[in-house]
Amino acid sequence: MTVQHVMIIGGTSGIGLGLARHYAGRGARVAVCGRHPDKVAGLPLLRDGRVTAHACDIADRDRVAAVVAEFAAGGLDLLIVTAGQYTDAAAIARDPAATLPVLRVNVGGLDHAFSAGAEAMLARGHGHLVAVASIAGLQRDYPGGSVYSASKRAAIAIGDAWRKALAPFAIAVTVVVPGYVDTARLRELNGGDASGKPFLMSEDEAVQRIAAAIARRDERCVFPWQMHALVRLFNLLPLALKRLRSK
Ligand SMILES: NC(=O)c1ccc[n+]([C@@H]2O[C@H](COP(=O)([O-])OP(=O)(O)OC[C@H]3O[C@@H](n4cnc5c(N)ncnc54)[C@H](OP(=O)(O)O)[C@@H]3O)[C@@H](O)[C@H]2O)c1
Repeated sequence: MTVQHVMIIGGTSGIGLGLARHYAGRGARVAVCGRHPDKVAGLPLLRDGRVTAHACDIADRDRVAAVVAEFAAGGLDLLIVTAGQYTDAAAIARDPAATLPVLRVNVGGLDHAFSAGAEAMLARGHGHLVAVASIAGLQRDYPGGSVYSASKRAAIAIGDAWRKALAPFAIAVTVVVPGYVDTARLRELNGGDASGKPFLMSEDEAVQRIAAAIARRDERCVFPWQMHALVRLFNLLPLALKRLRSK
């Protein structure tokens, strides 16, 4: 099926913006959403006329519903949620309130977006919802695990639950589970250079993997395979060994 109408919540930078370029390059009508839509102002992408940028905090359920409904009035084939917030254990120790934005965006926001997207797609009898989680969400009993990992574990489970609910209505749900992707945000989190991250993948390659999985309507898209294999191996280790590994 040709994808003609694409909305990306979290499409103003990184993986989401790469996906916006991908679909716009294939002639789709594309909306990118983020808290700061001005981030994409001036990009050649916006000169296209079929690409629009919208201010939307995914944690605001009413705003998400309004933005999705407005775009969907002209059609909605694909809704991709890449919006995400990161925090680690050290940040939480400094400020326990640091967990709230992570949960509001990665868990609550995903549900807001999927609810709004599903409503529009159910009315049209077709569509495809996509959540971008993280390979951190597949790690079990990971000693360095944080609320971020937990939120992405929840995102994977939420995507799986929506898939079951929407399967009878021909609406697909893909959960994307990436390892490290060399985005500006990842570099910022790593002092400007993420090259030391294991099996780091370029933004372009990640976008190609995700777009291919969407085209096949895959249920899950986990990459890179080396990181996936490592995580599966680590999950098999007894807890005591995992603790040793983290020292
Ligand atoms: N890069 C990696 O190595 C990696 C690995 C695994 C998983 N992921 C996941 O992949 C997704 C994209 O990551 P990325 O590296 O491309 O990050 P990014 O460049 O920071 O992109 C995040 C996008 O989400 C938007 N966003 C953040 N908070 C939002 C909110 N409350 N409401 C609406 N939009 C919001 C941002 O725009 P505004 O700032 O304008 O709101 C931006 O467009 C995230 O969910 C991340 O957890 C990334």
